[in-house]
Amino acid sequence: MSETDRVHDIVVWGATGVAGRLVTEFLTEQYTPEDLALAIGGRNQAKLDGVAADLTADSDEWDDLPIVLGDATDPESLRDLAANTEVVCTTVGPYTKYGTPLVDACVEHGTDYCDLTGEVNWAREIVDEYHDAAVDAEARIVHSCGYDSVPADLGTLLAQTFAIEEFGGPCHEARIYVERASGGVSGGTLASAAELFAAASEDPEVRKVLGNPYSLAPPGEREGVDPGEQRLPRKDPLRSSWTAPSPMAAINERVVRRSNALLDYPWGREFRCSEVTVTGDGLGGAATAGLVAGGLGLFTLGMSLEPTRNLLRKYVFPDPGEGPSEEQMETGHFRIRTRGRGVNEDGPFTVDAVVGADYDPGYTGTARMLGESAMALLEDDTDSPFDGGVLTPASAIGTPLADRLEAVGFTASASVAED
Ligand SMILES: NC(=O)c1ccc[n+]([C@@H]2O[C@H](COP(=O)([O-])OP(=O)(O)OC[C@H]3O[C@@H](n4cnc5c(N)ncnc54)[C@H](OP(=O)(O)O)[C@@H]3O)[C@@H](O)[C@H]2O)c1
Repeated sequence: MSETDRVHDIVVWGATGVAGRLVTEFLTEQYTPEDLALAIGGRNQAKLDGVAADLTADSDEWDDLPIVLGDATDPESLRDLAANTEVVCTTVGPYTKYGTPLVDACVEHGTDYCDLTGEVNWAREIVDEYHDAAVDAEARIVHSCGYDSVPADLGTLLAQTFAIEEFGGPCHEARIYVERASGGVSGGTLASAAELFAAASEDPEVRKVLGNPYSLAPPGEREGVDPGEQRLPRKDPLRSSWTAPSPMAAINERVVRRSNALLDYPWGREFRCSEVTVTGDGLGGAATAGLVAGGLGLFTLGMSLEPTRNLLRKYVFPDPGEGPSEEQMETGHFRIRTRGRGVNEDGPFTVDAVVGADYDPGYTGTARMLGESAMALLEDDTDSPFDGGVLTPASAIGTPLADRLEAVGFTASASVAED
């Protein structure tokens, strides 16, 4: 438990939703009331009572979970939440719709904050409006602490830290490979994706943000050598495999570039990064890459046009609040390999960092990534130079997050590349 006068160490805000409930479940399984003054928050007392009753009934340790009632549309309730809490851990999304007043309250009260956003347009809004104030207030506002973007951001940090230690300098390029990923998708995630596409189709400024690979970098530093996400099948330049676009590249690559910029370019200003899906060798790999690229292109087109977006929401997507099946979550797994390539006086070198686990990446895996991010902020278990600001997982927490994730069943480590 922390030793300040705030009532709650961590509040899981949105605990009645799919991700929020899983984060709460994870924290109550992993920690005890002696370690952690945990509370759950949301807008619906009866649902919150139900979550608290289920979790305390299943637990030997937790016989009480305090409830914080509020509403994302009621700034006063968010100010109370922020004033009484060390770390707000929020899964109330779409963040474009609900997120800003909570960030505002956390910055006002110098409260640490972590979320699961993959909404680039909203993250950029928060960078522009709150970074300086969050630095002044010593509030760490840490976006994208789930499957977007911990494996990519932490993986790149691990690869670069290893390269600097072993080879005396950083890699000039990192390819982030989605090698394995199996899991479900919730209504809340699809609603957030729809919100992003709707904003992009209505607002040319949002399209500009989504079109700039450096849009999450600090103002004045929003250009560089990277051309943007891979959109077509491609024979990979660093391994004998075909690759296809990755649906998470748009957020993950920008988060990695923001980490490099915030940390003052330890990987160089010419550092390039790209995230792709690995589809295998030979003709089979090429064909799968074509199918993945085509499927993603069709999905993007369908989501970009209002009539098809509305049809998808009405007839295809699960509703917000609906999550993946138990079976999907139980059999879920993922492995993200960040391969870095550098050159030193002895010639070229290649390093690999792997972040993965036998958990559903977006749900049981994300619950652990977000829960451990919140705990790292609470315990100040970081190697970060920052006390405040709008930060990324790598820049706010850094390598201690890898140790924390390994302690809860993940692989999160780097080595010399073997092939
Ligand atoms: N990065 C990742 O890997 C990752 C993974 C999973 C989810 N996500 C993101 O996390 C977010 C949540 O996803 P989810 O599947 O958990 O969604 P969800 O099941 O729809 O949950 C949303 C939560 O927000 C609450 N909420 C909605 N409006 C509110 C308001 N006005 N005031 C207070 N609370 C409100 C809901 O409360 P009620 O129960 O009362 O409706 C619920 O607790 C989404 O943005 C999704 O994209 C990201």
